[in-house]
Amino acid sequence: MRVSLSRAAALLRTGEPVAFPTETVYGLGASVHQPLAVRRIFALKGRPADHPLIVHFADAAQLARWVEVSDAARVLAGALWPGPLTLILPRKPVVPDVVTGGLDTVGVRIPSHPLARQLLTLTGPLAAPSANRFGRISPTTAAHVAEELGESVAILDGGPCAVGVESTIVDLTGPPALLRPGGVPRAAIEALIGPLGASATRAPGTLPSHYAPHTALLLSRDPDADAARLRASGQSVAVLRAGPSGEHAQRLYAELRRLDQEGVGVLIAELSGEDGLGDAINARLRRAAARG
Ligand code: TXA
Ligand code: MG
Repeated sequence: MRVSLSRAAALLRTGEPVAFPTETVYGLGASVHQPLAVRRIFALKGRPADHPLIVHFADAAQLARWVEVSDAARVLAGALWPGPLTLILPRKPVVPDVVTGGLDTVGVRIPSHPLARQLLTLTGPLAAPSANRFGRISPTTAAHVAEELGESVAILDGGPCAVGVESTIVDLTGPPALLRPGGVPRAAIEALIGPLGASATRAPGTLPSHYAPHTALLLSRDPDADAARLRASGQSVAVLRAGPSGEHAQRLYAELRRLDQEGVGVLIAELSGEDGLGDAINARLRRAAARG
């Protein structure tokens, strides 16, 4: 069900989850002050309760109430927020356990989507995972959200997401580490705070298999050759071609959804170069191809 901005804010205040647009993907939000609403998010997604959620803020003003803000965090926040970046920081006691899955850290982010910021200004901080069922492709339109969670979920429609892949997650609780490539290229972060290590701990919930379409997916550096080979052996094939990484990221999930519904035997996805958002795209394709 589509709802207006004021209705979305009213629902969130009374403890109802609401799906809302961000520049990366749609989130399924609940007020951090409403533990029951946060629990309903896990139930709606079919997500294990120990997977921590990202907390979204309208601006940096209230941040120090919730997390310990380090120098590196200040630098990244100043340069890249609002935008598709999540920082993992030590939490303060005010952050409810249901949001962090009991961890002593919390992911925080200030999204740039104008509707998200207006909503957050009306409601205060919102805990929100991507608005898909657990293990499925993240939604980048309101219609995708309804496809994932059903028509009864309240959705604030902000049009198609501009970035199209989730935020980059940087862990700043130790030596800075990249937990998830995403909407901000690694190089943009390293230019500001130096080299990022590999994640010491995998983000809970970043399982090898994720973002999965139903159709068998083959990753390829030469999709034409692979398509010809498979067709010659009698397979029906659809091809998802790479392109400039920003544009490709923007349409990646919508294309995976569309091609998944074509009913072909094999979906061939062309791998991107690693520059720009290419590593974020390839990481998602690799997860989507890893079944089981
Ligand atoms: O772009 C995004 O980040 C979107 C939009 C809605 O903001 N959100 C999103 O949330 O992708 P979600 O829950 O689908 O993915 C967040 C990832 C999960 O893998 C989670 O385990 C990890 O971030 N995460 C959250 N808090 C964490 C923490 N304190 N430590 C380590 N990983 C954390
Ligand atoms: Mg997700």
